[in-house]
Amino acid sequence: MAETIPCNPTARAGRRFLVTGAKGFIGAWIVKALVERGDKPWVFDIDADTSRLAALLTLEQMTSVGMIEGDVTQFSHVERAVADRGITHVLHLAGIQVPFCAADPLRGAMINVVGTINVFEAARKHRDLVESIVYASSAAVFGPEEMYGGGTVPEGAPLLPGTHYGVYKQCNEGNARVYYWDNGISSVGIRPGAVYGVGRDRGMTSGPTKAIKATVIGRPYTIRFTGGVDLQYIRDTAHVFLRCSQACLTGARLYTLRGDVMQMSEFLNCLGEILPASKTLVRAEGQALPVSYDFDDSALQHDLPGAQRTPLAEGIRETAAIFERLQREGKLDTRDLES
Ligand SMILES: NC(=O)c1ccc[n+]([C@@H]2O[C@H](COP(=O)([O-])OP(=O)(O)OC[C@H]3O[C@@H](n4cnc5c(N)ncnc54)[C@H](O)[C@@H]3O)[C@@H](O)[C@H]2O)c1
Repeated sequence: MAETIPCNPTARAGRRFLVTGAKGFIGAWIVKALVERGDKPWVFDIDADTSRLAALLTLEQMTSVGMIEGDVTQFSHVERAVADRGITHVLHLAGIQVPFCAADPLRGAMINVVGTINVFEAARKHRDLVESIVYASSAAVFGPEEMYGGGTVPEGAPLLPGTHYGVYKQCNEGNARVYYWDNGISSVGIRPGAVYGVGRDRGMTSGPTKAIKATVIGRPYTIRFTGGVDLQYIRDTAHVFLRCSQACLTGARLYTLRGDVMQMSEFLNCLGEILPASKTLVRAEGQALPVSYDFDDSALQHDLPGAQRTPLAEGIRETAAIFERLQREGKLDTRDLES
């Protein structure tokens, strides 16, 4: 095993964060958290659309964010972003989700797997700069509930992904391990479950957020899955990414996240209590998710105790309030409700 790079946390003034996929849902909330505490993050994304960031940041905050248009599948784009900006902390969120990987597995592998290799290669080439890599893995590295015999899936349970997406994430976790063994490059892979909140407008588990949005504008909406789900509020998810980014953790760590574990019927009840109109507007139908939903997160609790866990009712209230504000301002994008 290679020597670990000694952790020498850069003082605040010298910290430079690169957030790949930062125009997406989780990335935008990480950028928001960084800006609110006075950091200037660099946004790296292939998409020109800044609407998710604009929904969360003020105009003034938007001007404090550095924008890099780049493609994670191109090593030169990632490498230049790291070298030219003197990046010390990489938060790698760029990727495409379950339905898009299923529709185009080749593109999925290029973005989700090769893109992640490019991030590690850039860090290897610029190990004098990069002191931390945190990347988005997923609870989809696990298989469906029935493969684990019911109950809470323990830490260290076998990875049996049932989707291309989950296999790609498993592959990234394996590559991260090899980068640590061969090159001493430490990393943290975070495995979120079904994250919800403003900006969650695509992917297999985007239904609960879309149901909140549809209710706010008085439109009927059908969530396309039933059964159990672990709903994790985005503010908490972004918080975990940032804590891990600065925690000086060595090795190839992996943390499974846990939020509010429930049945879809319980989500609908909670939504109905907060937004009564949803009782007639929102329903759920379809199969259960192809991924387990009840996970032990004791590794994270052990290494970084005190992770915040926003109760579902509070997360729904906050999400609805932001959607209502955006609607009043004429900025609520509802195109996702068509899909
Ligand atoms: N949202 C969830 O519930 C959830 C759960 C588990 C894991 N994850 C993972 O977290 C990460 C972020 O998820 P999200 O919900 O924010 O997704 P998202 O689809 O909202 O955002 C992904 C971002 O990646 C960008 N991107 C795609 N291809 C790119 C490329 N080639 N180069 C540069 N940028 C590219 C997109 O433009 C987008 O802005 C993903 O890796 C996802 O697999 C998300």
